[in-house]
Amino acid sequence: MFYLKYRPKVIGEIDNSQVKIMVGKILESSTLPHAFLLVGQKGTGKTSTARIIAKAVNCLNNKFSRLSTSAVGNPPAGGGKTAEVNSYEPCNKCANCQSISLSSFTDVIEMDAASNRGIEEIKSLIRETSFLPMSGGFRVFIIDEAHMITNEGFNALLKTLEEPPKSAIFILATTNIEKLPKTIVSRCLKINFGKANATDIYSMLERIAKGENLDFNKDLLTLIANHSESSFRDAAKILEEINLQRIKTVEDAEKFLGIRGRNDLIKIIEKKDPKKTLSWIKDFSQNGGDFKNLIEDILDQLHNQLLIKNKVIENNDQETNLTISEISLLMKLLIEAYQNLRNTPIDSLPVEIGLVEFYNKVGQNKLV
Ligand SMILES: Nc1ncnc2c1ncn2[C@@H]1O[C@H](COP(=O)(O)OP(=O)(O)O)[C@@H](O)[C@H]1O
Ligand SMILES: [Mg+2]
Ligand SMILES: [Zn+2]
Repeated sequence: MFYLKYRPKVIGEIDNSQVKIMVGKILESSTLPHAFLLVGQKGTGKTSTARIIAKAVNCLNNKFSRLSTSAVGNPPAGGGKTAEVNSYEPCNKCANCQSISLSSFTDVIEMDAASNRGIEEIKSLIRETSFLPMSGGFRVFIIDEAHMITNEGFNALLKTLEEPPKSAIFILATTNIEKLPKTIVSRCLKINFGKANATDIYSMLERIAKGENLDFNKDLLTLIANHSESSFRDAAKILEEINLQRIKTVEDAEKFLGIRGRNDLIKIIEKKDPKKTLSWIKDFSQNGGDFKNLIEDILDQLHNQLLIKNKVIENNDQETNLTISEISLLMKLLIEAYQNLRNTPIDSLPVEIGLVEFYNKVGQNKLV
């Protein structure tokens, strides 16, 4: 799987440029925070970054190596690559880095709070923090899905976050910062992963394409980047699928991804056929279509049609048979759908609701 093979292994490979700069600066500075909070949507690199930080501070070949228990009094492992000794990047070669990669390093403890959320689990984690590192410089506690921890669990954790042992570093990751108590948030250094943007995704795709010797053209990579707007993981998966299907052209990729010409949906709407409309949306959604892009596209086109109908601009495009009041109602409902995208549990719902409402109003002949 491309997305696992190309999981960033050093800070420099984190394609989210903002995060890359921020984490670099933190590791460069002389004092490390004792708690990080990584916040962002799925597939934006929280887990990858947490593991890179854990490796960096325990690596035997970088600036942190002198802190490692197993390095005390010893020359740097791996024959003393002096060039790297000042770097904050993990070497990914030393015994510590390798055992962290294999999840067998006793000083890095990963806990998934989605399944270990109670007071007992947190207590036993806290007990672990009192031990000194066995072979690394720090004991790193990675708590994924941290928002799932129970209130009792948070309270127990809070005490430890207030006075953490010097050798412990906590890395909390969450998709949902609103569910974390403010007291916890305020004790952590927050790193915002947000959503992955198309430019950053593009650079990840380029990195994979180079690594795999794929002869993808820029337009194809741009298409994939735009089509998987918020997740690096999704983008890597699409690239892999497209490669497996031996798709080389943008047109074929569009067909494969179900991105049909943006006129398609408008034409169906003109026919006022709810069944066809909903099944188009279902296909679009199943093919991983991006609803934000879709709404932007349709609004752009309706806006054009509105100007054409009012003779503000020349009619170069084909004129729609929707009336002016239908166009403006549709725009209003789609803007509403656009705003609701942020809060919907199912991506397709806002557009579906908007269009169903449109048909209802038009069907009741409230509009001419
Ligand atoms: N910032 C990033 N730069 C490069 N690749 C990334 C990035 N974020 C995620 N990926 C890709 O997505 C996959 C999943 O990332 P992961 O760190 O598990 O995300 P999260 O924990 O935020 O869901 C990684 O294996 C990697 O291929
Ligand atoms: Mg994760
Ligand atoms: Zn190392």
